[in-house]
Amino acid sequence: MDAIEAIKGRRSIRKYTDQKVDRELMAEIIDSARWAPSWGNFQVARWTLVDDPNMIGRLAADGVNDFAYNASTLINAKGVAVLSFVKGKSGKLGDEADYSTNKNSDWEVFDAGLACQSFLLAAYAKGIGTCVLGVIDDESISKIVTLPAEETVAALIVYGYPDGKVTPPPRKKVEEIMRFAE
Ligand SMILES: Cc1cc2nc3c(=O)[nH]c(=O)nc-3n(C[C@H](O)[C@H](O)[C@H](O)COP(=O)(O)O)c2cc1C
Repeated sequence: MDAIEAIKGRRSIRKYTDQKVDRELMAEIIDSARWAPSWGNFQVARWTLVDDPNMIGRLAADGVNDFAYNASTLINAKGVAVLSFVKGKSGKLGDEADYSTNKNSDWEVFDAGLACQSFLLAAYAKGIGTCVLGVIDDESISKIVTLPAEETVAALIVYGYPDGKVTPPPRKKVEEIMRFAE
């Protein structure tokens, strides 16, 4: 699949067929996601995959701040990728204790976002639908999936085989978002 086609054709999918997603296929998608750029090539993004319906149910019950829309998306999904990052590395030069810019630790979330987009595009290229969920309770999710103490949850990404097509939400025009500095 052409890169531009993948970038423009990917959509957030919230309805999935009953078909399970092979773990090997998810490993192939992560194999692509690990090529995302990262601060200092520290590669702080981590992926905890949940395909057990009981655990997905616990994420829906306790991991989305009682946001029913996300709970129903989760219950319908065949799997959930818990995207986390290792804290305290991105934003620093080498092993220095202090952050190098006024964005401080924000770069770790930035790194997770880049890894996320690579994951979404790789999944789309392999026929797997995804949706990022940001309305989440990261502390509750950490407990449910037993995340290592040095990591923080960035987002949930639900996945599965798409059930039907979705209409692309509109985008701003190029003139609205681009300028040349004079
Ligand atoms: C950081 C982030 C958080 C999001 N959180 C949610 C969410 O909590 N629930 C949801 O249904 N969609 C969520 N989305 C999906 C957006 O609604 C979606 O990307 C946007 O409407 C554009 O649609 P598209 O992805 O199909 O192009 C989130 C997307 C991003 C990038």
